[in-house]
Amino acid sequence: MKNTERKLTFAANWKMNHGVAEARAFAEKFLALTSSSDGLKLWFFPPAVSIAALAAALKNRPDITVGAQNVHWEPRGAYTGAISIPMVIEAGARLTLVGHSERRHLFGETDEQVARKTRAALAAGITPLVCVGETLSERDGGRTEQVIVRQIGAVLQALEVEAWREVVLAYEPVWAIGTGKNATPDDAAQIHELIRMELGRSGVSFPVPILYGGSVNAGNVASLLTQPQLDGVLVGGASLDPAGWADVIARGSQAKVRPSGGFDVVES
Ligand code: PGA
Repeated sequence: MKNTERKLTFAANWKMNHGVAEARAFAEKFLALTSSSDGLKLWFFPPAVSIAALAAALKNRPDITVGAQNVHWEPRGAYTGAISIPMVIEAGARLTLVGHSERRHLFGETDEQVARKTRAALAAGITPLVCVGETLSERDGGRTEQVIVRQIGAVLQALEVEAWREVVLAYEPVWAIGTGKNATPDDAAQIHELIRMELGRSGVSFPVPILYGGSVNAGNVASLLTQPQLDGVLVGGASLDPAGWADVIARGSQAKVRPSGGFDVVES
């Protein structure tokens, strides 16, 4: 399945959780709780050391794709601690997060590095899931739009219009990540619209899928996904437990939205 096909997407970002043994145990439980659905895309971003084990454990599920949380833009070289795109592909990844806010704010990743990684992922044939989002002080200072436009702009500058056919975006307000605070469904929808306008202004006239992230859980996923602007969710904390994550997916897919670009959500 093409990663950019516009189907309702549930993406699990495990961050620095679940090493190999825990990833395998998660997979076993998750497979017992869920069955493959044509209408959904389920993505997992485990820590790099667990990619191979998780991809192997989930390989019989066509709805599931495994990705990396971070990659370097160079294919090899003297970059201690870094992991290249060919390496994560060899391990079984077909996607990579790029510019997650924790990479930007805890590890100092710049807009320019985000753009380079995005270009490198596309050149290597894996789908970049590029994250953007404003901090609390940027939001309080009325600079949300400016920040989003700047972050998207760096990627727009680096890519040909056609390359956007292989890109997926995530809007994750930094103040909502891991804090239990949520953007309201309306707020999220409004920023998704802003991103689409920005892409449109630069000639990207086809729909690029946009996920929403930030304290999404079983209690709020349905109301978020009733917004037609949201193509799915990117979830940290609530994706760590197999039963909890299966519940988020079940509730979210029950919302049965039919987003602006139109995708089919199979009834479960
Ligand atoms: P959270 O993380 O769901 O724990 O807020 C989301 C993310 O950082 O991708």
